[in-house]
Amino acid sequence: MLPFNFASSTTILACLGLLASSVGLSVAVSIQTPALDSLTPAKLASVRTNALAISTHSWELGTLTEALTELEWPSLAVFAPHSIPPPSHLSSWDNAGDVIKIATEVVRNKTADTLPLIDGDGAVGDPASLGFSVLLANWTRTNKSDTVFSVDAQEQLEYLLTDAPRSPQGAISHRESQVQLWADFVYMAPPFIAYYGALEGGSGGQALLQTAYDQARLYRDVLYDADVSLWRHIALGDGTDPTHWATGNAWAAAGMLRVLATIRQSDFAEKMLPQQKNLTIWVNEIFTGAWSRQQTNGTLLNYLDQPSSFADSSSTALMAAATFRYTTLTGDFSHVPAAVRARQLIHESVDADGWLLNTVDPEVFSAPSQPGQHSPEGQSFVLLLEAAWTAFQAL
Ligand SMILES: *[C@@H]1O[C@H](CO)[C@@H](O)[C@H](O)[C@H]1NC(C)=O
Ligand SMILES: *[C@@H]1O[C@H](CO)[C@@H](O)[C@H](O)[C@H]1NC(C)=O
Ligand SMILES: *[C@@H]1O[C@H](CO)[C@@H](O)[C@H](O)[C@H]1NC(C)=O
Ligand SMILES: *[C@@H]1O[C@H](CO)[C@@H](O)[C@H](O)[C@H]1NC(C)=O
Ligand SMILES: *[C@@H]1O[C@H](CO)[C@@H](O)[C@H](O)[C@H]1NC(C)=O
Repeated sequence: MLPFNFASSTTILACLGLLASSVGLSVAVSIQTPALDSLTPAKLASVRTNALAISTHSWELGTLTEALTELEWPSLAVFAPHSIPPPSHLSSWDNAGDVIKIATEVVRNKTADTLPLIDGDGAVGDPASLGFSVLLANWTRTNKSDTVFSVDAQEQLEYLLTDAPRSPQGAISHRESQVQLWADFVYMAPPFIAYYGALEGGSGGQALLQTAYDQARLYRDVLYDADVSLWRHIALGDGTDPTHWATGNAWAAAGMLRVLATIRQSDFAEKMLPQQKNLTIWVNEIFTGAWSRQQTNGTLLNYLDQPSSFADSSSTALMAAATFRYTTLTGDFSHVPAAVRARQLIHESVDADGWLLNTVDPEVFSAPSQPGQHSPEGQSFVLLLEAAWTAFQAL
């Protein structure tokens, strides 16, 4: 049992003097951090080891590289001030070793005759999730005559911008074989396009930041369901999924936040204030829709607004991670109590061996993982949650 509980965390928040009125507490005198208020370091290390062991698909590896960066090398993640550009040489104690290792393997495996970084199993967006780590590897590489990371990142971008099918409005399809929009795309491709643009700078860089924003906007235009303040999962083409899939909503919110943070760390933060404002609104509306349907024990349901749906810890972890990031970026604390309850549930859902239990099977959206099966992305979401919580606590 982890002794962390909601009451003690509201004490922490009340200390910040920011939630005091909304939770009816007076400002407490001291911050009381329970001894085990996060996963124990050993357990978190097991979560990480397991994530590395079972992540194989492009989007799983891409999400893992982002999670490792945020957790272990936070100064290199886009949420950190002055993270763009990264240093041209990494120090031996802050070397993003495990992230660079994955990026290096990806470019070593890549063949010259394909533009995407890795086989995306028919998905346009998924390989792009590795783009951040490849750009980081390029920028910080020790051998400055080695252009392979740069060329491969360029080709991935070219694929997204010129090869992939698009909707009539310009949304880049998430699928290669037909024009189809999946909420998942928003975490996979726009953050890469934005980071590429922020590094490039100049008018070309600004245009890429605008493209990243526009893709989020175009996806929202099609997928957002204002009646419930949630996104649908998949629209257009054959085989749509109009349900309000919890992980899809979390992908969209978390992806838009990375775009927002990247714009903020770029040279165009001031020029792109209206875009920043819209991203903030669009993320907030997802939290409003999702957390209003949170169950009493802190979990979200796999289909957020279907009471008969099963409890899913994966989406709960990513939604909570995104919520702490959102709060840290915006100073809007309104969703924090829900995210704190969610984090408690996640801590109780990680078993002694570092596996997140009660996850949706990410390849069969409608079914829970069978006992003994684990979710690669769910493992990374726990890492993202702890990284976001750490940043939030440092507020
Ligand atoms: C690279 O290719 C090897 C051999 O096919 C494979 O085992 C490994 O998982 C690949 N690595 C990545 C990061 O895709
Ligand atoms: C650096 O990269 C270049 C271009 O790939 C290569 O020719 C050279 O051998 C590399 N140098 C070292 C020291 O690895
Ligand atoms: C790779 O890094 C170099 C700096 O070493 C930079 O000039 C180049 O633009 C980078 N490539 C990409 C695609 O960002
Ligand atoms: C922000 O969103 C509003 C409402 O959807 C839209 O009218 C406006 O053009 C957007 N601003 C930008 C910069 O895209
Ligand atoms: C949380 O509550 C839901 C019902 O709202 C239930 O299905 C689920 O099993 C509970 N989760 C845990 C870990 O107790």
